[in-house]
Amino acid sequence: MPIFMKNCFMANSEPSFQSISWQDDRLRIIDQTFLPKREVYSELTSAGQVWDAIKKLRVRGAPAIGIAGAYGLYLGIKDFSMQGFDMFYSESQRIGDYLNSSRPTAVNLSWAVNRILNTLYAHKEKSIDELKQIALKTAITIHEEDRRLCKEIGEHGVELIPEDARILTHCNTGGLATGEFGTALSIILHAHMAGKVEMVWVDETRPLLQGARLTTWELKKAEIPHTLNIDSAAAFLMQQGKVNLVVTGADRITKNGDTANKIGTYMLAIAARAHNIPFYVAAPYSTIDMELENGNLIEIEERDDDEISKFAGKLTAPKKTPVYNPAFDVTPHHLITAIITEKGIIKPDYTKNFSRLFS
Ligand code: MRU
Repeated sequence: MPIFMKNCFMANSEPSFQSISWQDDRLRIIDQTFLPKREVYSELTSAGQVWDAIKKLRVRGAPAIGIAGAYGLYLGIKDFSMQGFDMFYSESQRIGDYLNSSRPTAVNLSWAVNRILNTLYAHKEKSIDELKQIALKTAITIHEEDRRLCKEIGEHGVELIPEDARILTHCNTGGLATGEFGTALSIILHAHMAGKVEMVWVDETRPLLQGARLTTWELKKAEIPHTLNIDSAAAFLMQQGKVNLVVTGADRITKNGDTANKIGTYMLAIAARAHNIPFYVAAPYSTIDMELENGNLIEIEERDDDEISKFAGKLTAPKKTPVYNPAFDVTPHHLITAIITEKGIIKPDYTKNFSRLFS
C-alpha cells in the first residue's frame, strides 16, 4: 500500500503532516516557507501573527488561508472585555477587515471571516463569553468541513481521469493548501489509489516555486510518480503527447465560471485548448463567489518586485528594473472543460449550473 494511503488517506488514520491545527488556545501551522528543506511548525496566538503568516505565505492556498483567517478572527476577539453586543460586533468586524486585507484574491478568506461574523450576528442575544465560544466553534467547523469537502472533490474527480493519466498540475493544491487532502491534488491522489496515474507533471510555479517546493514534497510522501518541469515547458510537453489532462485549483471562481488561480494557469488553459486536452479546475464551494458576475471584477494581488528580480536572495536583473508581479491570473470560463466541487462535476453552462447548486 502506498505510504500516503496508509498515513493520510484512510478515514480514521492520522495524516503524515497537518498544515493547520488548533491546539487548546493557539493555531499551529506548518511554515511553508521552510519546505521542502525543513518541517518547521509555528504557533500563532494573535490576529496580527495570523495576518503576517498569510501575507508572507507561511500558510497559503485558498482554503488554508480561509481556515487560518477563521481562527485568526477568534484570536483577535477572544480577549475583548466590552459587554454590549454592538461594540463587540463592530470591533469583530474591524478585526475581520484587517485579516481580509492580508491577501485579496482568494475569496475563501473573506468567506470564512464573514461566515463567523454572520453566525455571531445570528446569536446577538447571547453573552460575550458565549459569542467568543461560538466564533471558535465556527472556525473548527469550517476547518473540519474543508477536510470533508476536499475528500469529496477527489472522489468525484477520479471519474474524469483516464486509465493512463499523464496529468499536468500547477502551483500547490494539496493538504498543505487545505484542511487535508487538497483540491486538484485530492483528485490526483484518488486517481493514484485507483491505479490510474502514469505520471504527474509538476510546473515549478515561478516565482515562489510552490510546485517545485511543495507539490513535489507532497507527491513524494504519497509515492505518486512525478516529474518537475519549468512552467514554460508545459506547451511542449503537451505537443510531445506527454500530458493528456490538466487539473489545477482555484482562488476565486465567479458566477460565470471565470477562474482566478496562480499566475500561469491561463497560459496552461490556452495551451491545453490548442492541443485538445481537457482542462479541469477543482475547488470547494467556498471558492465560488456568486457575488461577482465575471473574472474582470476579481482583485488580483500584486507582490514584491524582489520575488522576480532576485533568485535565492541574489539580484538577477539590473538594479531598479521595473517589475510587474501579479500573483494570479484569470482563466476565462470557455477554456474550462469542467469544474469539480464537492457537489460533483459541473460542466458549462456554469452560470446556469452554479445558480442551481450554490445560490
Ligand atoms: O499564492 P498561493 O500559493 O497562495 O496560490 C495558491 C494557488 O494559486 C492555488 O492553486 C489555489 O489556492 C488552490 S489551493 C487548493
